[in-house]
Amino acid sequence: SAAEKDGYPSFMEKEINDQPDAVAATLLGRSDLEGKLTLDEMRIDPQVLKTINKIIVLACGTSAYAGQVAKYAIEHWCRIPTEVELSHEFRYRDPIVDENTLIVSISQSGETMDTLMAVRYAREQGAKTISICNTNGSTIPRESDAVLYTHAGPEIAVASTKAFLAQITATYLLGLYLAQLRGNLFQGQIKDILADLAKTPAKIAQVLANAAQIKDLALSMANTRTVLFLGRHVGYPVALEGALKLKELAYIHAEGFAAGELKHGPIALIEEGQPVFVVVPSPRGRDSLHAKVVSNIQEVRARGAMTIVIAEEGDESVREHAEHVFYIPETTTLLAPLLTTVPLQIFACALATAKGYDVDQPRNLAKSVTVE
Ligand code: G6P
Repeated sequence: SAAEKDGYPSFMEKEINDQPDAVAATLLGRSDLEGKLTLDEMRIDPQVLKTINKIIVLACGTSAYAGQVAKYAIEHWCRIPTEVELSHEFRYRDPIVDENTLIVSISQSGETMDTLMAVRYAREQGAKTISICNTNGSTIPRESDAVLYTHAGPEIAVASTKAFLAQITATYLLGLYLAQLRGNLFQGQIKDILADLAKTPAKIAQVLANAAQIKDLALSMANTRTVLFLGRHVGYPVALEGALKLKELAYIHAEGFAAGELKHGPIALIEEGQPVFVVVPSPRGRDSLHAKVVSNIQEVRARGAMTIVIAEEGDESVREHAEHVFYIPETTTLLAPLLTTVPLQIFACALATAKGYDVDQPRNLAKSVTVE
């Protein structure tokens, strides 16, 4: 009903706008003022978590992209080798899993059959399993050793939005918890990162407040046949998620690429007028990734692409290379997906709406895939 949608025309728009609350709810009550994390639902012996030597993140769909973001954060903070794999690929390849492996499954519904089967398989091999899940009491958390609930609230629209940001948030908490436990970060560092995280809900709200600019662009692109998305580092899974949202909601062919792969194939696709979204890393990052991605924008533009850039507030260097620039508030490199994803969600939702599609129930898709 309209009441359940809080006055929004669709659950999808409501859920996109719920994201500041979803992230805040996932953070709530899990750390104290000194930055000490206590994850109450973490029912795995801390001594065991100290001895794990490998993490495998298992998920499907949008949840798997949250897993890809998690890999960057967990390896950086905890120095534990972390793999991300689609649940259905994992089970059928004779993976190396033992009692020193920590499995982190990510599932909004907690009922995705492929992920459930992968978790069962890993447990049989002796691995410890943590479920990151949005649905209390669902099957995957019940069958896991521990659960870290995302408190995004019920997600009704088939394509995932707020659950995705909440999942990313939960993986940051897990990474920081492991770093705290294993002594990889100083308490003060953890406190600083948690303080940055605590600021993200207000920053997401700022991105949402600028939605009109993205919606206008989407309206002008209702006849688009194909859209490309480029990103690097944590911007790469964001690009993949931007492409997935466009396929799911607007039935437009879309592909995400790691920007560094441009020369190895995707650049051949560029012709006059081809829309290309580019997720640009912060110019304040320690490495040279920003400059590399800016030169990717120039490369596609020189071949006729229409460039649409997501960049950090104050980054004037992208303007001259972009037809459209959407600015997001400053944050740290690792936390940026909580902000850079949002314009891509708004874009896909607005474009699908402009084409007259039901954004809550896209054709052929199910909210939860409970068959193999
Ligand atoms: C379906 C949904 C997606 C979701 C995926 C994984 O494909 O349409 O939005 O990302 O399943 O679902 P899960 O509940 O395991 O996160």
